[in-house]
Amino acid sequence: MRKPIILITGANGEMGHGLISALNKSGISNIIAMDLQTLDATISDKVMEPIIGNVLDKTLMEQINGEYEISAIYHLAALLSTRAEFSPQSAHDVNVDGTLNLLTLAAEQGRSQGKAIKFFFPSSIAVYGLPNLETKKSAAAILENQFCTPETMYGCNKIYSELLGSYFEKNYQRLAAQDLSGFVDFRSIRFPGIISAMTIPTGGTSDFAPEMLHAAAKGEKYDCFVRDDTQIPFMTMPDAISAISDLMRAPKKNLTQSVYNVRAFAPTAAELREKTLSFFPNAKIGTEISEKRQAIVDSWPQDCDDSAAKTDWNWQPKHDFETAFEEYLIPNITAIYNV
Ligand code: SER
Repeated sequence: MRKPIILITGANGEMGHGLISALNKSGISNIIAMDLQTLDATISDKVMEPIIGNVLDKTLMEQINGEYEISAIYHLAALLSTRAEFSPQSAHDVNVDGTLNLLTLAAEQGRSQGKAIKFFFPSSIAVYGLPNLETKKSAAAILENQFCTPETMYGCNKIYSELLGSYFEKNYQRLAAQDLSGFVDFRSIRFPGIISAMTIPTGGTSDFAPEMLHAAAKGEKYDCFVRDDTQIPFMTMPDAISAISDLMRAPKKNLTQSVYNVRAFAPTAAELREKTLSFFPNAKIGTEISEKRQAIVDSWPQDCDDSAAKTDWNWQPKHDFETAFEEYLIPNITAIYNV
């Protein structure tokens, strides 16, 4: 008998930390947590077994397939957008080939269990590509099917992986003697920038928001790398984790699409700085624009329309711009840095 488990890749990342803690809190402990590095001590006691390994390792995938009966996969391992521009080949390997390996594992598991395996894939506002600032401004909050012309390697990887997920669910090996479609239940969210009080992201381009806040709490000077008027949507990490749980729990019949926008607030960089200064008045927040990273953020939407998520699976963020700081970010961040 194979052991029944939930598989999480990229377990050591920001989202992995939040998701493992939330699943553990809800009483789920049969988690296999995979990452390239040893699992952080803060989450290692919340999982059944950590696996140090690479999503590109097909032998490891086969071992996992043989040993476990997987009920759901949360495939979080990825190289974020800034990192991906420096190493596009590695980004493609991890973000696309890694995803293909996990989808293949899900299909194998589904076939042997005779049912569809739930597969969660975190996508991103990086799948959008607005051609210029005038279009970005006039488009305002965009829908899932608008401006899907990403400019970054990461955005290309994410949108292709979304398509791969739908292909596995609906058409996988459609010409084979045995039709293998229908064994993956693919569900994806296009996340905005995410701000966590507990961790700082690595290698993203929306990182100016969390970096600014964490630097202020630590009493360190921070130079924001985008213009004051730069605007993209954001949400808190607890809301991102709730969105994942809500979508994964939703009855399949309610889901009219496989990929959904979510968002909570969409401040400009200047509004983020003002808000941060209102809690840390002595913070030194300057601006040192990185033209290249600015161009990436300028190609992302000012906001996105998440009405499909609201209608189909009752998505509702807990934190708006005010309560994100007052109820979640500031109380936790001040406790962490002891300020
Ligand atoms: N937060 C991500 C990044 O900046 C976007 O999904 O790369």
